[in-house]
Amino acid sequence: MISISLLGSTGSIGVSTLDVLRRYPDRFRVVFLGAGKNLRILSAQIREFHPRAVSLSDAASAVKLKALFPELEVWSGEEGLLKGALMEEADKVVVGVSGMSGLMPTLAALQAGKPVALANKEAVVEGGALLKPYMDLVIPVDSEHSSLFQLLRKHDPAEIKRVYITASGGPFLHRSLSEEITREEVLHHPTWSMGPKITVDSATMANKALEIIEAANLFGLQASQIGVVVQPQSVIHSLVEFCDGTFHAQMSVPDMRFPIGYALFFPERAPKSLREDLPFPFGPLELLPPNTEKFPFLPLAYDVISRGGARPIVFNAANEAAVELFLQGHLPFHRLIGQVKEAYDTLDYPAPSSAKEVLSLHREVKKRVEGILHERWCK
Ligand SMILES: NC(=O)c1ccc[n+]([C@@H]2O[C@H](COP(=O)([O-])OP(=O)(O)OC[C@H]3O[C@@H](n4cnc5c(N)ncnc54)[C@H](OP(=O)(O)O)[C@@H]3O)[C@@H](O)[C@H]2O)c1
Repeated sequence: MISISLLGSTGSIGVSTLDVLRRYPDRFRVVFLGAGKNLRILSAQIREFHPRAVSLSDAASAVKLKALFPELEVWSGEEGLLKGALMEEADKVVVGVSGMSGLMPTLAALQAGKPVALANKEAVVEGGALLKPYMDLVIPVDSEHSSLFQLLRKHDPAEIKRVYITASGGPFLHRSLSEEITREEVLHHPTWSMGPKITVDSATMANKALEIIEAANLFGLQASQIGVVVQPQSVIHSLVEFCDGTFHAQMSVPDMRFPIGYALFFPERAPKSLREDLPFPFGPLELLPPNTEKFPFLPLAYDVISRGGARPIVFNAANEAAVELFLQGHLPFHRLIGQVKEAYDTLDYPAPSSAKEVLSLHREVKKRVEGILHERWCK
């Protein structure tokens, strides 16, 4: 029986993780559920999965939860999430929280020697240097990186010339990023069902830029070893190009339960398909070059990798600030990319050297960009 500590249980990754776990009650047991403030979903999950402890980032919600479940250990805040990641009985930690709230618990779990199924790409992007010594314990959950992990571990690194992560191209693959675009169109991803932040990032391709940086950090690759190809059906998740000019691809229908299931069962595989309704054969499948002029975050990602230091933090924090302002209805979508690029090109900071410094710089950049954007767009 494998005991799982799940951080971010009420979100898109968390709900999919629990959907895999509920199919295998004889293989997994949930010992911890951590969330932000969604009492309703967390309460239902507690009734179904009976964790020993839970945590909410919001202290007031934690008090309400304790009143509902007096027998349960209820924690709150950053400390609560950290305690969940470090629970002695947890054999594996799933990190499905969003934003930088995942960095400290991920680092702590890895330092304690626990395998981490890691979906939280922001932590890998901004905290790559800190996580590097523990990468042997990381099982990537992001679909492209799970896919690369599966392909790369089967081959001698000397045989591999380049890797490619795929992109659906988002809702505006064949449309210009004009001022007519509505919030609903941005939030309607053509192939994946995900949380709002990552869905906006898919429409600007910030998500793919973050994933290029994530791949460099997870697999120790140079910028020149990582390519991007557009695969509009989101069935091929990555490709590996070998030195002899041949390629291997990894495929599954776009459903996060596949990479999550892989990470939960690793080093084994789930004994049966996580979906009964597989529409095989998947075709027709297209592979297209990305449009780097329309989506300038892609070339920016390579700049981030080659310059390192504080660049990943400036990019991710500036993007987070801009996406929040878009979701609040202030920043028009067609201006989002330009505003983030401007912040990236103008803000400069020395490299942080600890997790505390990473988080503090993240807050500083975000606050600064929020200030600039509020001044421009919230009058
Ligand atoms: N969704 C996908 O398909 C997908 C694919 C690949 C990678 N990822 C990555 O996985 C992560 C999660 O994405 P998502 O789409 O699942 O996001 P989401 O739906 O917005 O869910 C975020 C989860 O994190 C919790 N949370 C947020 N801030 C927290 C904090 N300070 N302390 C504790 N819990 C906190 C939320 O709790 P409440 O809801 O209770 O507030 C929720 O459970 C992101 O880093 C994303 O980039 C997602």
